[in-house]
Amino acid sequence: MKIAISSDHRGFRTKQGIIDQLRQADHEVEDCGCDSTESCDYPDTAKLAGGLVSNGEAERAILICGTGLGMSIAANKLCRVRAALCHDELTAQMSRKHNDANVLCLPADLISDQLIGSMVETWLSTEFEGGRHARRIEKIDAMEKEHCSGS
Ligand code: RB5
Repeated sequence: MKIAISSDHRGFRTKQGIIDQLRQADHEVEDCGCDSTESCDYPDTAKLAGGLVSNGEAERAILICGTGLGMSIAANKLCRVRAALCHDELTAQMSRKHNDANVLCLPADLISDQLIGSMVETWLSTEFEGGRHARRIEKIDAMEKEHCSGS
């Protein structure tokens, strides 16, 4: 799978660990920054990695900041992005099964690296259930078409 990844300074260290994990699992990873723990603004790198999902160049993206909140708010401004802020294995799993999330947002300051590693694995291996959930995603897509120019 081609996976874009980005973080701000608070998520930088966690991002590097996830990149290693993804490459070990033979995923193709596009690292969209940031490149150090020097302070930066999460919308800038959310736009880069989320943008690759939005334009179809990546299947999924993983975005990390301190709480995950800023990344999820920013990424959900992008057309065709369904970004889910997850805090545990269950939310990671449900974001795929019911919401077909194509962007995973993670809170580097709030949960352990070990939990993040297993959430990433779960999120990447869980399929969308479709059915009644597909109808709901179609309604979200219709909202986007009404309000998102260029979609
Ligand atoms: C950066 O200080 C912090 O605000 C950011 O990492 C994130 O938590 C924002 O939602």
